[in-house]
Amino acid sequence: MSYDFEAMLQTIKDKQWCLADIDWDAPGAETMSEETRAKMAPFMADLVWIEHIGARGFAALAKKAPTATIREIYHYFHAEEQKHANAELALMRRWGMLENGEIPEPNINVKLAIKVFDSYGDDLPLISLAALIPLLEVALDGALVKFLTDEVSDPLCHEVFRHINSDEARHISVDFEVLELLGAGGSIQRLVQTLAILDPRVLVGLIVVFVPLINKVRDDVVAMGLDERKLMNAMRRFEKIGARGQNTQKLFIYHLLRLMAGMITDRKHPYHRFLADPMVRITSYVPARILGKPQSWVDGLSPEAVAS
Ligand SMILES: [Fe+2]
Ligand SMILES: [Fe+2]
Repeated sequence: MSYDFEAMLQTIKDKQWCLADIDWDAPGAETMSEETRAKMAPFMADLVWIEHIGARGFAALAKKAPTATIREIYHYFHAEEQKHANAELALMRRWGMLENGEIPEPNINVKLAIKVFDSYGDDLPLISLAALIPLLEVALDGALVKFLTDEVSDPLCHEVFRHINSDEARHISVDFEVLELLGAGGSIQRLVQTLAILDPRVLVGLIVVFVPLINKVRDDVVAMGLDERKLMNAMRRFEKIGARGQNTQKLFIYHLLRLMAGMITDRKHPYHRFLADPMVRITSYVPARILGKPQSWVDGLSPEAVAS
């Protein structure tokens, strides 16, 4: 039986929550030690920006959604990722991590991702976006949140992440169902999809943006003394969930990204020595100013308890 996107859309509507639902001044903030605060601040900043990359990805997907219902779902997901970013900013403010309410600077790999999404996001073929977003979601969006709830005992943090995790579960479920839908096309359609992946913008996006982004986050996780295995286990979910989809199995890009995820999760693989780690070093030399000013959509960031 095919997946009921209509029912999912209804669930998404029923489960909407907003920042104003949460009492940001509730007791518990004092449970955070100085040490945890210092350790978590850069991590939270990364997380806020990764949510924003997710938001931008869904905005691009909405433009090419295969059906009107899926388009509406993507519009909700776009708004939800922005909401996650804002909720994380509100937590940072609660924990005294933001000075004068300022928004943290994204690292260079995040800036590159934003730049590429802004420049090419709307032109990228549906299939490559539809396959890359779930990999980013299992690897970063979902996994990083797990670290936070393990490290922080503030009860409000757990309340916020119950909402975020419940949204993420629906994102991941829809992400893979859309892949399943795309894989159900005929062989000609799949050939066209495969050729679309050979678009140089997709390949450059993968190598210049995705490869160093994941390894940079991994480096940051290790630098904080956290266990990188959690991040790697999260990535394995891409293969696991994808393997359940009969039609997903027919997609070339699923196998390409599955192989890539396999290399990423194996620290001994030459992929790290010859490609990913050097790409982190090379991109660290990219001067932020050549990427220009932050694009208009980052204006949506705010730690205020807005009702959206
Ligand atoms: Fe998210
Ligand atoms: Fe997400």
